[in-house]
Amino acid sequence: MLDKIGVIGGGMIGGVLCQEIPRRRLARTLALVDIMPPDLAKGKCLDIAEGSPVMGFDVNFDAGKGYEVLAGAQLVINTAGVPRKPKPDGTLPTREELLQTNLKITDAVAQGIADNCPDAIVISIANPLDAIVYRLSRQLGRDRATLFGMAGVLDSARYRYFVAEAAGVSVENVEALVLGGHGDTMVPIRSACRIAGLSVELFLDDDVLAGIEARTRKAGGEVVKLIGTGSAFVSPAWSALEMAEAIIFDKKKVMAVSARLEGEYGVEGLYVGVPAILGRSGVEKVLEVPLTDGERALFDRSVEAVRSTAAEVDRLTS
Ligand code: NAD
Ligand code: LAC
Repeated sequence: MLDKIGVIGGGMIGGVLCQEIPRRRLARTLALVDIMPPDLAKGKCLDIAEGSPVMGFDVNFDAGKGYEVLAGAQLVINTAGVPRKPKPDGTLPTREELLQTNLKITDAVAQGIADNCPDAIVISIANPLDAIVYRLSRQLGRDRATLFGMAGVLDSARYRYFVAEAAGVSVENVEALVLGGHGDTMVPIRSACRIAGLSVELFLDDDVLAGIEARTRKAGGEVVKLIGTGSAFVSPAWSALEMAEAIIFDKKKVMAVSARLEGEYGVEGLYVGVPAILGRSGVEKVLEVPLTDGERALFDRSVEAVRSTAAEVDRLTS
């Protein structure tokens, strides 16, 4: 249990985080900051506090519209940013189309973290994921251990769910990794996908797997189209908490993390989804795993997509 966890953004994802963090006894104090008037953060935390006797947890809340509530947080989860929603003509925006709006938000977030919890480990969720973490890194000047993004845990969970559904097995039996950027170029790594330790290709044929991998790449958009007013929010919150628990309980757990690469996979300075070991100090090691030639080509293509959006960040902020 940490003394204090901070959540930035008390919307759909932040709201789930603020319920789950006390229920899982992850922190003595939960801080929530959201700029939404009259005081969304205070209102949501008061609601959860008033339900705490029913759920049987004791937690302190620091909530409000100012980042000072984050003071002393050891871990911060950033959800501040607009989500995707269908356009008036029914088409879907890409995550990258959120960049200009969310960059402005991110600079305020970076200042809030720098002023109030400069040593906190930061898990960022806001989209476009890899670019926003990249911007936070430029603003905060952190080493890569303590600032990274959540997307690959969610994308991998989607892959795992679709494989389990098709194979008729428990989701608990399926291991999978989705690497690269958190966008349409993400790469489900079939060669690493296992069901009870056995290759997924012993259970599902190529056509079915290709269909699952295509669905995984578009899974975010599928939910956005159905919800109509925003994007997935429960599974992303749960995915971020998978990362938070690996840190809090020093699990040394391997999972997909949007981490800053420092030569791994031939990449320098970009945030890309890669396998990493997460423990009490954050990203403790980035793992270079074997990929098939086809997977490596797709990974390299995804890196180029991330590079292009990072270059856009630099252009927009120079
Ligand atoms: P939401 O609109 O419900 O919540 C965002 C909240 O941030 C709002 O309440 C808003 O008032 C708040 N906010 C805006 N500017 C702020 C600021 N400067 N400081 C503090 N709070 C601020 O959106 P959501 O559905 O919770 O999604 C949040 C972000 O997460 C979006 O960018 C979305 O695209 C992204 N997302 C990422 C993943 C992923 O896998 N990485 C998955 C789903 C959604
Ligand atoms: C989306 C989230 C899942 O925009 O990143 O769909």
